[in-house]
Amino acid sequence: MSVLDDWINDYYLQEEIVVNIRESVLAKPFGRYTVLDNFFKIEKLDLLIKHHKELTFSEEIDRRSPKDGTWLPYDGAVCFAKSGVHFGSELFFNREWYNYCCYLTDTILDAPATEIKLRYHKPMADGFWIHTDSVIRSVAIIVYFNKQWMISDGGILQLWRIDEIDNPSTFTVNNPIGRMDFLTQHQRIRTSTPGGGFTDKKAHDLILVDQILPVYNRVFMCNFQHSPAYHSVTPSNKKERLGVVQWLFDKL
Ligand SMILES: [Fe+2]
Repeated sequence: MSVLDDWINDYYLQEEIVVNIRESVLAKPFGRYTVLDNFFKIEKLDLLIKHHKELTFSEEIDRRSPKDGTWLPYDGAVCFAKSGVHFGSELFFNREWYNYCCYLTDTILDAPATEIKLRYHKPMADGFWIHTDSVIRSVAIIVYFNKQWMISDGGILQLWRIDEIDNPSTFTVNNPIGRMDFLTQHQRIRTSTPGGGFTDKKAHDLILVDQILPVYNRVFMCNFQHSPAYHSVTPSNKKERLGVVQWLFDKL
């Protein structure tokens, strides 16, 4: 038995299913990502959630810019997972897990390294401004913990693509501050300041292409080698939101 058998539902370990998921990822016209429901074995996930609720989270270490100390346009508080310390580290720091995620998302890593943020989002969170993780990261894996999560609860992951057509009259936002309700009100936003920037440093129109609810036992995986996969998170309402974000990248 491998650690994957201990944690992941048998369905997602069948060779045919794994190949099908990868093919579906490769077939997407925008980005290389997948959304996997009922992914973990319930007993493991529920233990992970139980341990998560006992942690202390810091907004300061997540949101302060290491460059200039400014407050970044995110809404999370985090605890960085440590191998051998935090529950689940036998999976999340395991090479077999890295290989599994890279295969599904068609990501190539020669010497994989990881960073894992155990995450807490307070009620009435501001949301995350549109950004890419691709600056140093190759794959993002998000595990969601939230039972009975509805659209009206907010906190929805949004994926955006750059439109080939620039329209200067599009609703425009640059460097937003505070609650980002406009993310739920516009499916087309023009900006010159997504997190991580645009490669040409110009303003572009972004079009909303998918929305993913952060529901219990859902896992989102996204390849940032293939495209910037610009994404955001809408503001939340009365519920707190919990989960894990993991990145894989090549050691420098
Ligand atoms: Fe991100």
